[in-house]
Amino acid sequence: MADEASFKDYYSVVIFGASGNLAQLKTFPSLFGLFQRGKLSSKCQIIGYARSDLDREEFERRATKGIKNGEDEKIKQFLGITSYIEGKYDVDEDYQKITKRCEEYEKEHNVDKPQRLFYLALPPSQFALVLSHIRKNCYDKKSGNFFRVIIEKPFGRDLKTARQLQEEIAPLFSESSIFRVDHYLGKEMVKNLLVLRFGNELFSSVWNKNNIASIQISFKEAFGTEGRGGYFDDIGIIRDVMQNHLLQVLTLLTMERPTSFDSEAIRDEKTKVLASFDKIDVDNILIGQYGKSEDGKKPSYLDDETVKSDSKCVTYCAFGVNIHNERWDGVPIVLRAGKALDEGKVEIRIQFKPVAKGMFKDIQRNELVIRVQPDEAIYLKINSKIPGVSTETSLTDLDLTYSKRYSKDFWIPQAYESLIMDCLQGNHANFVRDDELDISWKLFDPLLEAIETGKTKAELEIYPYGSKGPKKLKEFLRNHGYVFDDPGTYQWPLTNTDVKGKI
Ligand code: BG6
Repeated sequence: MADEASFKDYYSVVIFGASGNLAQLKTFPSLFGLFQRGKLSSKCQIIGYARSDLDREEFERRATKGIKNGEDEKIKQFLGITSYIEGKYDVDEDYQKITKRCEEYEKEHNVDKPQRLFYLALPPSQFALVLSHIRKNCYDKKSGNFFRVIIEKPFGRDLKTARQLQEEIAPLFSESSIFRVDHYLGKEMVKNLLVLRFGNELFSSVWNKNNIASIQISFKEAFGTEGRGGYFDDIGIIRDVMQNHLLQVLTLLTMERPTSFDSEAIRDEKTKVLASFDKIDVDNILIGQYGKSEDGKKPSYLDDETVKSDSKCVTYCAFGVNIHNERWDGVPIVLRAGKALDEGKVEIRIQFKPVAKGMFKDIQRNELVIRVQPDEAIYLKINSKIPGVSTETSLTDLDLTYSKRYSKDFWIPQAYESLIMDCLQGNHANFVRDDELDISWKLFDPLLEAIETGKTKAELEIYPYGSKGPKKLKEFLRNHGYVFDDPGTYQWPLTNTDVKGKI
């Protein structure tokens, strides 16, 4: 199916916002990454479009700014397939310049069925305007399903605005032409979740309330807003990473087995499990905002000049989720996310129920840890006999650390590389469907409203930059079923990037 829908040979990729940050840091480098590995057709063309008046030299500087480790010769070849058009976002004639360039190229290469991909590296406030102009000026009926658009979160700031956006976009393009990016769905370890769960009887048979005692998904960043305060202040950590990235991970972790890897089979299951999520208990949450670091060297959130001086913006949040279905009813699930913490790490912890007492006095629980980043790893904490004459046990692990298991030249694509590739192949599985969005906002609206109108019993705690977050975190996790290892009994081995298995 993906193959029939794959772009081949002569196609056009048009990047809107080509002079901006997202395009420079993610879109161009990812296209280059694919090009370098022969995953992007060397015959395709890439057109950058933006309002800035850039000469060729400046365009090339921006298009290559985010490329790391590219061979000079490859970069040269890559630039050879790029061009730039300066244009406004509300002027039909400017869009027609894009169409003209596409048509000339298609004619030159005898293309009957145009293949065009429009990537909007733009703020969402521009989506409806730009998409309506694309529809009017750049759409060619002959393309059929080879006309695609990519847009990127945030998709609204609540249910109402998300629906408005959807109502504006839906008449322009069919759902099958729209690819909504949540870049977490392009991360290697997130893509691995379905294989891990459903491709291993060992896991699939125990993946339920009878065996799993608790689940945690945590997102930790070691830096603050650092210049993005203006954007973040109006958004906060919940909208920024929880309503989208962490929720997506959770749905993949908890959905039922899809009938196949087919996009709609997967997305159907994701929406089904989302519909079984209980309301979030808005009184039983942790919220915080980072203050100065303990040594005073790192700034507080409010020190950022781009945020409101009395901002109550949440930079740390933890809350529980309950899923009322046969598989998960009663299993405590925690999502937690924070900026300016002691380390940068995204991981999933699945803790299993304790073994029967009797034989063992103090035996610890099995725990499966899936580290999404940095240094991708899956490790299963197990009890094993300490080698030697005694029957004493210790907690150790079965460890699949990617950097140890796979050779250095093994390609782990960047999230955006992976997603652009999926889009070119017409595979929607790792993109967000309209109905998923609707359900997820229904879940988050009450939480956001309670926090923003002060209707939660939780109080905004100021935690030091570089700390683990709010003081009550450990207690909160314990109350949500997580059992900490006995102190000093388990140490995640140092890896080549020196990441420790810290909580
Ligand atoms: C983005 C958020 O969606 O995800 C950022 O807007 C956040 O605030 C980023 O830093 C995290 O992505 P990654 O891939 O660095 O984990």
